[in-house]
Amino acid sequence: MYYPDEVIEEVRLRNDIVDVISSYVRLSKKGSNYFGLCPFHSEKTGSFSVTPSKQMFYCFGCHEGGNVISFIQKYENMTFGEAVRLLADRAGMSLPESDDRAAREKENRRARLLEINKEAAKYYYSLLRRPEGRHGMDYFLQRKLTEETMQRFGLGFARPSRNELLNYLKSKGYPDEILSQSGLFNFSEKEGMTDKFWNRVMFPIMDAANRVIAFGGRVTGTGEPKYLNSPETLIFEKSRNLYGLNFAKSSKAKNIIICEGYMDVIAMHQAGFDQAVAALGTAFTSGHANLIARYARERVRQDEIARYKDVLICFDSDGPGVDAALRALSMLREAGLAAKVINMQPHKDPDEFIKALGAEEFQKRIDDAENGFMFTIRMLEAEYDMKDPTGKSRFITDVCSRLVRIEDPVERENLTGLIAYRYDVSVNSINEVTKKQALAVENVRTVPVPIPTRNTGKGINDAAKTPQSKLLSWLAEEPDIYAVVKRYISADDFADPLCRKVAQILFAQLEEGRCDPAGIFSQIDDEEEAKFVAEALHQSVGNLETVQIRETALKDLMLNIKRLSLTRSDRSDNDFDTIIKIRKEIEQLERDRIVLQ
Ligand code: UTP
Ligand code: MN
Repeated sequence: MYYPDEVIEEVRLRNDIVDVISSYVRLSKKGSNYFGLCPFHSEKTGSFSVTPSKQMFYCFGCHEGGNVISFIQKYENMTFGEAVRLLADRAGMSLPESDDRAAREKENRRARLLEINKEAAKYYYSLLRRPEGRHGMDYFLQRKLTEETMQRFGLGFARPSRNELLNYLKSKGYPDEILSQSGLFNFSEKEGMTDKFWNRVMFPIMDAANRVIAFGGRVTGTGEPKYLNSPETLIFEKSRNLYGLNFAKSSKAKNIIICEGYMDVIAMHQAGFDQAVAALGTAFTSGHANLIARYARERVRQDEIARYKDVLICFDSDGPGVDAALRALSMLREAGLAAKVINMQPHKDPDEFIKALGAEEFQKRIDDAENGFMFTIRMLEAEYDMKDPTGKSRFITDVCSRLVRIEDPVERENLTGLIAYRYDVSVNSINEVTKKQALAVENVRTVPVPIPTRNTGKGINDAAKTPQSKLLSWLAEEPDIYAVVKRYISADDFADPLCRKVAQILFAQLEEGRCDPAGIFSQIDDEEEAKFVAEALHQSVGNLETVQIRETALKDLMLNIKRLSLTRSDRSDNDFDTIIKIRKEIEQLERDRIVLQ
C-alpha cells in the first residue's frame, strides 16, 4: 500500500519522534538532544541520539539513522507501508485508500505472484504423494525425512516433463504475461515458455510470514546444478530472506543457528533444533546479517537492556565452508553480533552429523561452540610459521591488531587471557603489543576515511564532500541562514549527487518557508543513502560563538562548495557558459561581506 506525500507528512507530524522512540528505548536529555542505548547494535554507552528539532535519530556507533517512520521500519522489521499504518493507528488517524495507480498495480502484481507460487507449491506437494511422484518420495525417505517433516516444509516433486506446471497454471486462468514474471519458467525463442523445474525434488522457500516466494529444486541423482533456485523476482530478494526463518523466528531456543543448505535446516528442525536458518542460492550477505540481528534481539526489556540470542555458525567443515564462516563472522560483527562457530568434525555438515551421531551429540557441539574471534585466529595460524619465533611473533602482532577492534573492554580482556594461555605468551606482552597497534590505528583514524563498505561514490563521508553536508546540516538546524545562502548557492552547486538531492528537497522546503529535515527521508528509498543523509544532517556545525566567526565560517563553506561545483564530473564541456557563470559568482562571493544578524 502506498500513500500520498501529504498523508505521510501528517503521520510524521502526529508522531513526535521522542515520544515514539521513548516507548522502545530509554532516552535521557543532554542539551537539546536525547541519548540512549542503540537498539540496532549492542553497546554499553549510549551513542544513539534523537534530535527533536530535526525529528531525526542517528547512532554515532553504527550509523543507523532516519526519521520516525524509518525507526519503526527498522525496529519492527516492517515495510514502509506497515510502519506508516502502525504510526497512523498510534495517532488515531485513519488512512485513505491508495490512489497511486502505479503503486496499486505493483501491489496487485505481487499478490498475483504470491498466488502463483502458492499454487505451484500445492501442485508439487500433491505430486509427491501420487504414484507419479514415487521417485521423489523415495528420495526423501532415503534421506531419512519423516512424513511430518515433509509436510512442515511443504516439500514436493516436479515431474520429468517440460510443461506440466505451465499447463496447470494456464488452466487456472493465469495469463503468460504474469507467469513469465514468476521465476518458475524458462523462455527460449524455439520452445517458448517451459517449466524451469523438472525431475527435481522441490523445496518451497517461505518468507517470515509463511508465504511461498520461491523454490529450490534438487536433482535426485547426479546432475548439474545440484540445486536449482528461483531467480530474484518482485517477491523474492535473496539477501532479505533466510530459509527456515518462518519457523526459527518463534523458536524458544536461546540461540539462532546459521547453516549452509536446505537439507541442513530441515535435518536440524527434524532433530528438534527449530532455530536453524540458511541463506539460499547465494552466499551469506550483510543483508542476512542485519536480518539475523533483528531476530536475535530478544524483546526482553524489563531492565531496559536489549538481550541478544547467541548466533551460531554451522557451515560445512571443508575449506570453502571455513572461508564462508570467516566472512560471515565479520559481517555479523558489523551488524553488532559476536557469533560463535560450531565444530562438526569429523562430519561435513549438520545433516550428516545428526544422522551419524544424533541430536544429543549435536546439542553438545552447540554448547561447545567456539568464540568467533578464537575461531578466526585459529584459522589465521595456518598463514604463519608457528614453529619459527619470528613467525609466531608476527602472528601475535596480527592477532593484537584484531583485538584492538573489539570495543567491549571485558570481552577484550577475556580474549587476551585465552590467547595468552593458548599461545603461551604473557598477558602483559599481549597488552603491550595491542596498545602499540591501537596507537597505529588511532593515527590512521585522525585522517578522515570513507566508510569502507561503500564504494559507490555516492557517500558523503569523504573529506571533499564534508563542506556540502556541513552546510546542509547547518541549514537544517538554522533555517534563517537560508536567506543569505540562497543568494550564492543553488541546489545545483552541490557536486555530490546525494548532497544535491538533499539540497533540492531542503531548498524547496525553505522556499516554502518551512524546514522539515525528517521529511527528506520520505524521498530517499535507498537504505544506505538514508544512513548517510542521517549522518550528514547530524553533524554539528562546530563551535561558532561570535557573529564574526559564524559569518567567516559560512562564507568559507559556501566558497568551498562553489569551487567544488566547478569539478562536478557530470558537467560536459558544453556547459562552458555555466562554468563561466560559476566563476563570476565565486569572484562575487570572495568580494562580498556576509552579514548574519
Ligand atoms: P551443498 O553442496 O553443501 O549441499 O550446498 P548440501 O546442503 O549438503 O545438500 P545435500 O545434502 O547434498 O542435499 C549448500 C547449499 O548451497 C546451495 C543450496 O542452497 C544448498 O543447500 N546450492 C548448492 C545451490 O544453490 N546450487 C547448487 O548447485 C549447489
Ligand atoms: Mn548435505
